[in-house]
Amino acid sequence: MTSHLTVVTHPLVQHKLTLMRDKATSTKSFRQLLREISHLLAYEVTRALPMTTTRIETPLCEMDAPTIEGKKLALISILRAGNGLLDGILELIPAARVGFVGLYRDPETLKPVQYYYKVPSELEDRVTIVVDPMLATGNSSAAAVDLLKASGARDIRFMCLLAAPEGIARMKEAHPDVPIVTAAVDSHLNDHGYIVPGLGDAGDRMYGTK
Ligand code: URA
Repeated sequence: MTSHLTVVTHPLVQHKLTLMRDKATSTKSFRQLLREISHLLAYEVTRALPMTTTRIETPLCEMDAPTIEGKKLALISILRAGNGLLDGILELIPAARVGFVGLYRDPETLKPVQYYYKVPSELEDRVTIVVDPMLATGNSSAAAVDLLKASGARDIRFMCLLAAPEGIARMKEAHPDVPIVTAAVDSHLNDHGYIVPGLGDAGDRMYGTK
């Protein structure tokens, strides 16, 4: 991928995002919309995957047909909201390997602290797609990418639903080599770290917790 930031302005994405933002949208619909939108975002985040060809035989003749090069992709979900995007992208890339990163914010230092980390082997040979619906401060995303790089990942892409300018700036500063694909860039973060206008707490909205 070339550009650091790609905003997917496709009408289907924007329409679904508006439905998701609406506080009247039910948990069931929110989850379904997130799944649908994740297909469309995944289409964009995988657009420039390295390609090769494989010799196959059609009913008519032999041909060198295009296939994705290299090892199976690694999809990394930042818990817990990342799992909503993960479910959809896995439908599109069912053979992908999957990892999970769990981070919480220390109330004193406000720094992300790791509580769970399990990722596929040989990350250095895999295109690695990190998923988290909300790129807010960018602190947990940057920390997750730090961990993945320490595990060997070299080709990392970040896929989210909504991004705040603060989170984009943080990621660009910490990881300028990691392209971001999002459905929208919102106005700002409020004092509680929520994206405005946003859609609220993505985890609560997709799982019906509060
Ligand atoms: N996480 C969320 O779920 N929502 C926000 O607005 C910011 C971070």
